[in-house]
Amino acid sequence: MRSGSRWADGLSVRGRLRASLIRWGVAHPAPFLNHGAAAGIGERRHDLARHDDNQARPDLAAAATSKDLRSAPRHQWFCFPHSYSYRLVNTVLDHWDLPSDGIVADNFSGSGTTLVAARERGLTALGFDLSPLSVTVGTAKIASYNLLTLERALRRVMSAPLVDSPQVPDRLSRAYTDAELREIFALLHPIRTLRGSSRPFFVVALLSAARQFSRAVPDGGWFRWQEWADRSTEIRDAFEDVISQMMADVQALNWSEGECTATARRADARQLPISSSLVDGLITSPPYANRHDYSRVFHMDLLLLGEAESDVTRLRHRSIRSHVEAKSPRGFKRLLEAYKPPLLLNEALQALPPNADKRVERFLRGYFQDIYLSLIEVARILRPGGRAAYVVGNVRHAGVMVPVDEITAELAEQAGLEFEVAWIMRERGNAAQQMGRYGRQASRESVVLLSKRASP
Ligand SMILES: C[S@@+](CC[C@H](N)C(=O)[O-])C[C@H]1O[C@@H](n2cnc3c(N)ncnc32)[C@H](O)[C@@H]1O
Repeated sequence: MRSGSRWADGLSVRGRLRASLIRWGVAHPAPFLNHGAAAGIGERRHDLARHDDNQARPDLAAAATSKDLRSAPRHQWFCFPHSYSYRLVNTVLDHWDLPSDGIVADNFSGSGTTLVAARERGLTALGFDLSPLSVTVGTAKIASYNLLTLERALRRVMSAPLVDSPQVPDRLSRAYTDAELREIFALLHPIRTLRGSSRPFFVVALLSAARQFSRAVPDGGWFRWQEWADRSTEIRDAFEDVISQMMADVQALNWSEGECTATARRADARQLPISSSLVDGLITSPPYANRHDYSRVFHMDLLLLGEAESDVTRLRHRSIRSHVEAKSPRGFKRLLEAYKPPLLLNEALQALPPNADKRVERFLRGYFQDIYLSLIEVARILRPGGRAAYVVGNVRHAGVMVPVDEITAELAEQAGLEFEVAWIMRERGNAAQQMGRYGRQASRESVVLLSKRASP
């Protein structure tokens, strides 16, 4: 176990102070307003291809993908399709010189990659995500565990009697047979009565096992339905297999209680529930502007978590506008008055052919407003001199390339941050559909590195 060695003393005074600041942080402090500094930036151009400070980082190409999360302790418990690797987080943290008891945040925390990697280095990790699935997964991955407690809880879960499965949404009845649902709920009922970190641990294990049996099979940003005969007799074994892997991971990587603070909370990246000037570094990846909708990819998982169909729809509407169904958020009118649509965005929108789907222009405009609002929050929560890394991918719509990395750099400056450098990690092929119609044109995937000006 790694616990007890490097961080045996628990939180330092600074860490304790910061932890209490977080606990007592005002619900939503006054937004960071530094728009004076941003005047005229809308006219400025960040041409990453020509910018001297931009670096090709082919060494990071593999770190832009989730491949090595699938065999890494804790990370492998539940992976998101578009996560970056913990290696990317480590590279960024190595590049920065954060205090050894620093605070690292992720405002779109997804499956918790940043949080686990930061925690492994003894840093305080604060994750925020709109999805209850992300919060459950993140909470499970960063928790401290006692193996005896987990073993006791496992015995309790496995010995609980079969129960009638509750009335479930139609989608779940299509994804699983009645017998499969009975098995899943026989495990889920006792899991819901568990306390402390055991509960998210077993919920994540069950979701991970149940995915293997779902007839809604993820396929890119969607899922396709498949058919096969009942497999209810295999579910318990699959659950136990997942649990034994997770317990082995806990043995390999654990922290003792209080070693450092780590939380994953449900929050909107456009309105974070923490105090200003608190965070030393932020590493994140917002959903890409390629119509990707996490509430669809994880629809079954959200229903099994207990969300109603109406909750999933609400989540879809409230998420960042990376897809056409997300709606304009309320309450940001005043902040958006200062927003200037970036020149490169306007150029891309003007280049869209007249027959392009009109919704594309609408969601792209919304997407960059949302990125801007999230960057205002980043500028607010970073301490002076704090650093941020936005991992973004350029996208192509109706044959027009949208340089998301350059636009993000420009929006960061509008939001009061400084653009330092972009690491261009790799060029991705475009989607098959686009490739057929418009030919091959690769899209950059970059890390946009930003900072908040140090106090004078
Ligand atoms: C690209 S994923 C993050 C992947 C993450 N880096 C990881 O390692 O798994 C984007 C996340 O943004 C979340 N999200 C979408 N809209 C959001 C919002 N308005 N506020 C916070 N999170 C949001 C989604 O639920 C999803 O988990």
